[in-house]
Amino acid sequence: MAEIELRSVVKKYGALTVVHDFNLKIEDGEFVVFLGPSGCGKSTTLRMIAGLEDISGGTVRIGNRDVTHLEPKDRNIAMVFQNYALYPHKTIYENMAFGLRLAKLPKQEIEKRVAEAAKMLDLQELLGRKPKQLSGGQMQRVALGRALVRNPDVFLLDEPLSNLDAKLRVRMREEIAALHQRIGTSMIYVTHDQVEAMTMADRIVIMKGGVVQQVGAPLRVYDKPANVFVASFIGSPEMNLFEGRVGGSDAVVQEMRIPLGRNPRLTDGVEITVGFRPEHVQVGEGDLKFTVNLVEQLGVQTLCSGTCNGLFMRIMIERRDDLKKGDVLSFAIPEGKLHLFDKSTGSRIDQADK
Ligand SMILES: Nc1ncnc2c1ncn2[C@@H]1O[C@H](COP(=O)(O)OP(=O)(O)OP(=O)(O)O)[C@@H](O)[C@H]1O
Ligand SMILES: [Mg+2]
Repeated sequence: MAEIELRSVVKKYGALTVVHDFNLKIEDGEFVVFLGPSGCGKSTTLRMIAGLEDISGGTVRIGNRDVTHLEPKDRNIAMVFQNYALYPHKTIYENMAFGLRLAKLPKQEIEKRVAEAAKMLDLQELLGRKPKQLSGGQMQRVALGRALVRNPDVFLLDEPLSNLDAKLRVRMREEIAALHQRIGTSMIYVTHDQVEAMTMADRIVIMKGGVVQQVGAPLRVYDKPANVFVASFIGSPEMNLFEGRVGGSDAVVQEMRIPLGRNPRLTDGVEITVGFRPEHVQVGEGDLKFTVNLVEQLGVQTLCSGTCNGLFMRIMIERRDDLKKGDVLSFAIPEGKLHLFDKSTGSRIDQADK
């Protein structure tokens, strides 16, 4: 087990910088998720921690050791990839034991570790099979098992569930979270799926274009997104966001006026981006009028898309069986649930905590 620290880490390919000044300290035992859209530098950063990519600038430390220039094998990390990378002609047992044999561990120790990992991941019945005789979820567990037997200081997982169907993803997500709880080893998990990030992480690192946008606990990031990008990336359905300005005590977006309440004290006329989450509207209160266009029944909740003063938005409310296209609902956005951003920089304008 170990802390991990990245100090001013940079990755360049020729003139192109794909990771900019990345700073992060990961506590021993923490589960950190790197989240962001395709191409934002998640895998590159992970691979630099693993030693699979050269670092163009900065340092990487694992457990008080500067590992910046160490070979991957000397970093005591284990990495699980999206495509599992199992040896097709070896049995599951051999796949899991292979790295330990290379490391010249005694036979008995190898048997013990494989047996333990197989038990933990429910692979005991499968040890004699070949990878092609397994389902996707089983192969994923083997890939985890192969990492587990190495007793690494750190687990690095790069989109390990993206080849699985939706249902299996949820199950494996729970299994990985449970595994982390049991073994307590630091994990860095890469995904572009915000639900995975929200459900699994102690802290999420949100990236865009090689730049860290925000680091924080899932609910902190949900409650107080640092900028417009984070606001739209975290949360499903997406936050409603509009460009407008401050007009007296309201946020004014074209014809729509949203009361700002007591916070924040902003100068009249200041240009802002204003946002609220679909699940935070209070229907039946306030003066805003929402015209339903589409109703999606999710079971517990009803998701509606429609317009307010001609502006497209989504609202998510408690189950309503009666709603249909053309219905009009009055709604309010509670004070404290409104997100305000500087229109030019996209940065959050802080409001007093409630
Ligand atoms: N060898 C390379 N030469 C030049 N650019 C590269 C190279 N490898 C990666 N890149 C670029 O670096 C950026 C970051 O890539 P990276 O693989 O880290 O993204 P990612 O966040 O993991 O995306 P994804 O979700 O698609 O896996 C991308 O813009 C990519 O095109
Ligand atoms: Mg990637």
